[in-house]
Amino acid sequence: MLDYNSKLLTFGCSETGDQDIISFEEEYGAHHYERINVVIRQAEGCWLTDIRGKKYLDCLAAYSAANPGHHHPDIVAAMMNALQGNYGSVISNVVYTDPLGLFVKRMAEFAPQIAPRFGNHGNKVLPKNGGVESVETAIKAARFHGWKNKGIPDGKQEIIVFNNNFHGRMITVVSFSSSSKYREGFGPLTPGFVSVDYSDLDAVEKAITPNTCGILVEPMQGEGGMQIPEPGFLKGLRKLSDQHDLLLLFDEIQVGLGRTGKRFCFQHEDVVPDGLILGKAVSGGLVPLSVFITNAKLMDQIFNIGSDGSTFGGYPLACVAGLAALDVFENENLAERSEQQGKKLKKKIKEICDRSPHVKEVRGMGLFIGIEVKEGNAMDFCHELLDLGVLANDSHGHTIRISPPLIINDEEIEYMVERLENVLVG
Ligand SMILES: Cc1ncc(COP(=O)(O)O)c(C=O)c1O
Repeated sequence: MLDYNSKLLTFGCSETGDQDIISFEEEYGAHHYERINVVIRQAEGCWLTDIRGKKYLDCLAAYSAANPGHHHPDIVAAMMNALQGNYGSVISNVVYTDPLGLFVKRMAEFAPQIAPRFGNHGNKVLPKNGGVESVETAIKAARFHGWKNKGIPDGKQEIIVFNNNFHGRMITVVSFSSSSKYREGFGPLTPGFVSVDYSDLDAVEKAITPNTCGILVEPMQGEGGMQIPEPGFLKGLRKLSDQHDLLLLFDEIQVGLGRTGKRFCFQHEDVVPDGLILGKAVSGGLVPLSVFITNAKLMDQIFNIGSDGSTFGGYPLACVAGLAALDVFENENLAERSEQQGKKLKKKIKEICDRSPHVKEVRGMGLFIGIEVKEGNAMDFCHELLDLGVLANDSHGHTIRISPPLIINDEEIEYMVERLENVLVG
């Protein structure tokens, strides 16, 4: 329970009532999110707490950012040490720092050899902050490869992307979003992207031109409705990329790091990309940190002094959190836990959904499970779940997204299942 009299909370968490907090956000904050009507005051493990002490099981995990659970004690301790030991603040990438050196080594070795067709040179890592920054880094890499290695005139490079993609909200990535709401009024948009249907290999093949330099894909679509591609799709993309010398870029910001029951989602199809993008859970959800990882040979060719940079990208506190989060990932076997708990949960959800008049389909892997509803808005069910002490939200309007922290235990699964039963069957 929150101790509102403690000194710490007078700094970070005030005694201001919920209605005031909501009205401050309404009056002084941009209205760019449709909020669920609850003010969360504390987060720990799989649970969120409001001012009355009411607890909510977090079935969103900040879209996979809180995979190890909120405020994981090991990550918090590492960050506290850094702050109290005066090695957490941003210093500048013009000097070397101990946390960045250790983090990039650890992260590079954490992934299999990326882009093995360029040789067994190991991996290199370019760190940024929010996920979208690393998506843009990957786009730069593919364009540079097209220009330098394929001879495509600079400015003519094209990248194949997929309908219903989600890669973030900055200008370049919204330029190829299928959602007009993301683009409207924000032109001029960035050219150089061709969008085809997810899972449609023929469409990808037809879209390839002499100017194509890369393919950017989510190995499972999160915001696009929790979609699993057809079997063989990623393998097919790999084949086409090899045939046409395209950089195959996997955006695993939401589905990587154990979410789908494997360390990386691409391991379900045994396909290795030429560029890997991770974010969210890389730091255990405590500070923004994202990475673009590729073959050392490509990274050295593409990014040189002056061609990229970021003030906070790879700053000490983020790297300390990243190192601790990778330790937690391995020590607590988060990918295996996700697979085991996900199997149990999906079975139980399927049993409920078989009896529900509202459900069209259940799909997902690991702890990444979507419940598509037949009609209306998935959010209506999420509001009912909130009243019962479960935080979930929709994906693509029609699907209830179930993606709790990967540390969820059997008791917490039972708690969730009881409430899903209540809402979906009645
Ligand atoms: C697949 C994918 N890519 C990119 C992003 C953007 O990440 P960020 O919001 O940290 O910029 C997200 C965020 O949800 C995502 O799910």
